[in-house]
Amino acid sequence: METRSLWGTRSGFILAAIGSAVGLGNIWRFPSVAYENGGGAFFIPYLFALLTAGIPLLIMEFTIGHKYRGSAPLSFSRMNKKAEWLGWWGALVAFVISTYYSVIIAWAMSYTIFSFNLNWGSDTEAFLFNDYLNLTVDPGQTGSFVPGVLIPLIIVWVLVLGILFKGVKKGIEIANRIFIPLLIVLFLIIVIRAITLPGAIDGLNAFFQPDFESIMSSDVWVAAYGQIFFSLSIAFAIMIAYSSYLPKKSDITNNAFTVGFGNSSFELLAGIGVFSILGFMAGQAGVAIDELVAGGVGLAFVVFPQIINELPALSGLFGFLFFASLVLAGLSSLISISEAYISAIVDKFKISRAKAVLLGGGLSAVISLLYATQGGLFFLDAVDYFINQFGVAFIGLIEVVMVAWILRKLNVLQEHANEISDIPLGGWWKISLGGITPIVLGYMMFDLFRLNLLKQFPTDTGNYEGYSDTFIAIAGWGVAAAALIIGILLMFTKWKNDVTEDYQKSEEAK
Ligand code: ALA
Repeated sequence: METRSLWGTRSGFILAAIGSAVGLGNIWRFPSVAYENGGGAFFIPYLFALLTAGIPLLIMEFTIGHKYRGSAPLSFSRMNKKAEWLGWWGALVAFVISTYYSVIIAWAMSYTIFSFNLNWGSDTEAFLFNDYLNLTVDPGQTGSFVPGVLIPLIIVWVLVLGILFKGVKKGIEIANRIFIPLLIVLFLIIVIRAITLPGAIDGLNAFFQPDFESIMSSDVWVAAYGQIFFSLSIAFAIMIAYSSYLPKKSDITNNAFTVGFGNSSFELLAGIGVFSILGFMAGQAGVAIDELVAGGVGLAFVVFPQIINELPALSGLFGFLFFASLVLAGLSSLISISEAYISAIVDKFKISRAKAVLLGGGLSAVISLLYATQGGLFFLDAVDYFINQFGVAFIGLIEVVMVAWILRKLNVLQEHANEISDIPLGGWWKISLGGITPIVLGYMMFDLFRLNLLKQFPTDTGNYEGYSDTFIAIAGWGVAAAALIIGILLMFTKWKNDVTEDYQKSEEAK
């Protein structure tokens, strides 16, 4: 009989799932994605994606993990032997994401310390790229290690792997019990301070003012789905692994709604906080807000330090709170991202958790060193863009098509969820997953492939001008394709556990 680790309490699971969802994506990505994609009007595609894809997929993944009691590859293989690759694909995408996600947390850690003395000076952009990242090589070259990134990166991995080492209940659950309440308190202080700054209202107006024309473009919809999937940690094997640790008698749907709405509330709060501050800054500098909004790296590590410089009082403390929140949100997500593939290794190769943490997490940590070099940001930029678009969003599409249409499992999953959940799943769930999501996402992915093959990719985290075709082919397409190819190959390696039989026996015994 298999003995799978379990969460200690229902709230432990919910906190861990929220910890996974609330991450760099909420604080670092959402505000600029929303702003760039029509401001207030972005909420229409965002809410649509949340209700018809995000929450339904979250419920689906929770149900799959709970019903088949395994990491993503194990759960899919128990659903149908031929579907195992889909689980590996997600787990490998998680692996790739963990390699660079850790690095962004490392930057935030450095900036937490820099906050005390406002070390970044007045030219925050030059500080980030020249002084801190030492970005003096061309895309594709590494240069030497940057100690300022390397040292916090090692700390990040020691913390995360240490927590994962301790296991589900004693490691992940306890860490999230500490990180998440702390994060909420820190973040509330920031938001309250932000909305009481002079000029905050102008920022909020910019954020919420709808640009209705933009919602007609497919880019905006792609951005909304991409944001929802990344932010909810769905389609990269995480939520299946987390829900596989739920006890038999557990609620599914109510938990999924709590996690989904909890995550979006945090996201909205982050947007309100960030834009209030931008409004303040625009007023101080006498410029328009759109001149200040920058994507990803720029917003958190260039614009924010600039704003912190301008704050009337306690600026160092404010900076500390902001970057510490990024670190906490990032760590709790990185734990889950790593658990996605660590659980898969344990299940497939029947090795101890400790060995799997060392092997999987250790390998990711070693690869992450690449981004701690002088040319690291270029690699990070290319890998991040491609793995998100052709990893996360694409897997989301294949996952729903596979489960709803090819394996036709929606009825079985609905029955399973309804047997144990507080809120019964209605027809909207099946219509969303079987109809709306495949159609909308299918159209979007088609458009995205077309644009990218024409090399018209939007610049999400940076600027692709100057990136050679070979660099994009290897760091972008190559890495994204490798996750799928290696996933398929892993399907042909033998399970060391007799897991399928175990599962069938326990089902029959019910
Ligand atoms: N869900 C995590 C985030 O938003 C990965 O950053």
